[in-house]
Amino acid sequence: MHIDRYEQIWIRISVAVLVIFMIGIVVAGWSLSIQVPGVYGRVDPNTVTEPGSPWAEPGLRELAPGKYEAYILAQIWTFVPGEIRVPAGSEVTFYVTSKDVQHGFRIQDTNLSFMVLPGQISKMTHRFEEPGEYVFVCHEYCGVGHHTMAGKLIVEEAVASNQ
Ligand code: CUA
Repeated sequence: MHIDRYEQIWIRISVAVLVIFMIGIVVAGWSLSIQVPGVYGRVDPNTVTEPGSPWAEPGLRELAPGKYEAYILAQIWTFVPGEIRVPAGSEVTFYVTSKDVQHGFRIQDTNLSFMVLPGQISKMTHRFEEPGEYVFVCHEYCGVGHHTMAGKLIVEEAVASNQ
């Protein structure tokens, strides 16, 4: 089969570009810990706040020293809880879902950003090394109060244990 010389060159360039992008994704995922948000699980938005559901009492749970999970419920137009405190160096895994419409969840100064859909659990993990206030916002338009939908995560200086 005859392929024109220039066409051959362009086919090679196209394949090379795909390979470069593939390497970029692998490097980003492994060394920069960039995570692609996906559907972690499903949940019924109508019963998500009923007893037995982890969002019945959303909030922070300590799994081990420096390791937390945060169950956050998005609803028009607040996050519950609206404020979370962890010591510096903590690794927090967020489980976020919505009980009404589509929302978003993005934490300032981190690479943590995903959509929050009713019926779907979004999950992502981040380690907070630097003390400070990290604002989290809804970044999907969800109605007239959308711009007021925000909360904050406070990373406190790690206090040395005196035990
Ligand atoms: Cu919730 Cu915008």
